[in-house]
Amino acid sequence: MTDHVSTHASEEDIRNEAILIYVDGRIVSKRDAVVSVYDSGFMLGDGVWEGIRLYDGRWAFVDEHIDRLFDAAKCTSTYIAMTKAAVKQALLDTQAANGMTTDAHARMMVTRGVKVRPFQHPKLSQSGPTMVIIMEHSKPKLPRPIRLATVPHIRGLPMTQDPKLNSHSKLNCILACIAAQKAGADEALMLDVHGFVNTTNACNFFIVRKGEVWTSTGDYCMNGITRQKVIDLCRTNGIPVFERNFSLYDTFSADEAFLTGTFGAQTPVGELDGRVIGTGQMGPVTERLRKLYKELVAA
Ligand SMILES: Cc1ncc(COP(=O)(O)O)c(C=O)c1O
Repeated sequence: MTDHVSTHASEEDIRNEAILIYVDGRIVSKRDAVVSVYDSGFMLGDGVWEGIRLYDGRWAFVDEHIDRLFDAAKCTSTYIAMTKAAVKQALLDTQAANGMTTDAHARMMVTRGVKVRPFQHPKLSQSGPTMVIIMEHSKPKLPRPIRLATVPHIRGLPMTQDPKLNSHSKLNCILACIAAQKAGADEALMLDVHGFVNTTNACNFFIVRKGEVWTSTGDYCMNGITRQKVIDLCRTNGIPVFERNFSLYDTFSADEAFLTGTFGAQTPVGELDGRVIGTGQMGPVTERLRKLYKELVAA
């Protein structure tokens, strides 16, 4: 059996059995944290979300995450019946209720709410949005660099389902991940509509070639906050960085490859489609960027 790992692998923590969860203004036990089977998120994947991490008492880049949540809500006409400040307060209240001080991960979700009938039309969601914050103790723990496989599922054009939307409906990414697992890899590397390397099913993707850091143009991927931080860190630290089109040809022969995302920060990639990338271990540029990112989060 293949030993699959995931970019969201973390240490087992039994405290997560007793966490408290925010559901529509109430902070309740995990057992009591339920939403209706008529909820638009459950029924249709009609919702948007953010993942945010707690490091040493502070939620990293929290305002940027809340801005992105509101941008996605506006784009999808999902009415968040709270101010940004109130959303942030809900996050802090949930943190306080859980007594969490560091190494926690929050998934903040807003759906179009409970529907009056089990059909697609958004007008059937009449009672206002559903908002949930799940907050878990979470220390990323990756036993080895991630193995990727390219898959037939692509990152599409913005007029289909804009890849910038952190939508509840992740079926395209889930199918991509399943295809990668069936190919013996951990997760999927997805191409864009032109065949250029774009992103993985859950993270942004970077390669390192001769000391240069390359990532996609950003046209077909999530506007990742960690992605942008890495680009900014390269610029301020004299590391050449390019947002550009590149193909699998450039990727197989890269010196290093890594993923970025709020959960795992920078995750090394060891293999792609059975080809070892670089040494197969975390490379020096990835390691340097991880250190710089850690310092940025602590600043
Ligand atoms: C498809 C996809 N790409 C990239 C990311 C990483 O984004 P961020 O760095 O803002 O966590 C996410 C996280 O939500 C994602 O779902």
